[in-house]
Amino acid sequence: MHLDIDLAVIGGTGLYQLADLQDVEPHQPVTRYGALSGPVRVGTLDGKRVAFLARHGEGHSVPPHRVNYRANLSALQALGATRVLALNTVGGITERFGPRVLACPDQLIDYTWGRVSTYCEEEGTDVLHVDFGDPYTPVLRRRVLDAAASAGVTLVDGGCYGATQGPRLETRAEIARMRRDGCDLVGMTGMPEAGLARELGLDYACLAIVANWAAGAGPQVDEVITFEDVLDNVAAASSGIPALLRAMLAG
Ligand code: HPA
Repeated sequence: MHLDIDLAVIGGTGLYQLADLQDVEPHQPVTRYGALSGPVRVGTLDGKRVAFLARHGEGHSVPPHRVNYRANLSALQALGATRVLALNTVGGITERFGPRVLACPDQLIDYTWGRVSTYCEEEGTDVLHVDFGDPYTPVLRRRVLDAAASAGVTLVDGGCYGATQGPRLETRAEIARMRRDGCDLVGMTGMPEAGLARELGLDYACLAIVANWAAGAGPQVDEVITFEDVLDNVAAASSGIPALLRAMLAG
């Protein structure tokens, strides 16, 4: 089924639904890549059609390395989405990216391994060497940034997202290395999603929600990161997201 979808949103840890979505209908397209994380909920927000998919499933049952990124994105495209806003819960590494900050990164480094990271897998598919110098689509990033400004939502413009394998968090030495590499943020789901979106020709941007200081990055070096803190901070930092989405759809 092909719907006129203005924006598809993929929700991350702590973000399992879009509360303001109206007239919601679940869709579970069958894809050649297997099962999606869960239903795609398509509804309207201020009269615009929005699709929402919880990346980890609605009950957070799919860990980052088992997410079927290919099925998720190809299902969104099959439903008619051309623009995807990825919400990613992350840890903050550098100063500007403390807990509860919202950021729209402009670069990424991929540290993941063993994930199916391309659509060029199956026999007979064309080999694509897509340009990925700007891993996030500049025009969509601009729309996110402008929407945040018009909605009065504070959003850091830029930053480098380091995608790690998970599901465990990182060691302090790993985070120190990522800082030296130039990473500002660390999360487990940024890749291969962004690369696959590029292969499909989807516009794709990331709205990163900082849940915690990454290991050793905060003022208290030996701080233990708990899932409760992560969820609390995501809930607090996410309060501006509905207004941001509305402003994006209005723009
Ligand atoms: N590391 C990796 N992924 C994360 C983190 C982190 O510290 N916090 C939330 N997602």
